[in-house]
Amino acid sequence: MNIINGLRKTAWMAVAAALLSSLILTAQGVGQQGTPAGEQLYRGYCAVCHGERGDGRGIAAPSFGGKIADFTNPEYWKKADDKKIAAVILKGQGRMPAQSVSPEEARAIVEYMKSAFKGAYGS
Ligand code: HEC
Repeated sequence: MNIINGLRKTAWMAVAAALLSSLILTAQGVGQQGTPAGEQLYRGYCAVCHGERGDGRGIAAPSFGGKIADFTNPEYWKKADDKKIAAVILKGQGRMPAQSVSPEEARAIVEYMKSAFKGAYGS
């Protein structure tokens, strides 16, 4: 009986360890299905308001009067800087609530925004 209990415990510990390491991997940027973490995070946290394409037209945008920055506008990137964007993500700004991501995740999101929205429009 004791041996079986011992085996059960070991099996559960292995399952727990596997779960934990997959969580850690995900957090470190190895996203599901090979999607980069920054993109997944943007879609998960930001797209609802800022839009999948970053144009400020997410499903929730109308409740903010539609006045959300258009990240696809080259003008936006003339004034933007990485640290400021990360600070908005972590602390919120005006009507935008702070997002519960880590500073590393905020940086990954900023990198994604630059490659997908800024880069795409050649500014
Ligand atoms: C609940 C809706 C909502 C979510 C979710 C949200 N935002 Fe915002 N965001 C806003 C609104 C509204 C503003 C305009 C805030 C203001 O009043 O200045 C804004 C402003 C910003 C700004 C500043 C733009 C400027 O004009 O300088 C940045 C950068 C930004 N958001 C990035 C993000 C990122 C990245 C995420 C995801 C991690 C995110 N936001 C999630 C609603 C949202």
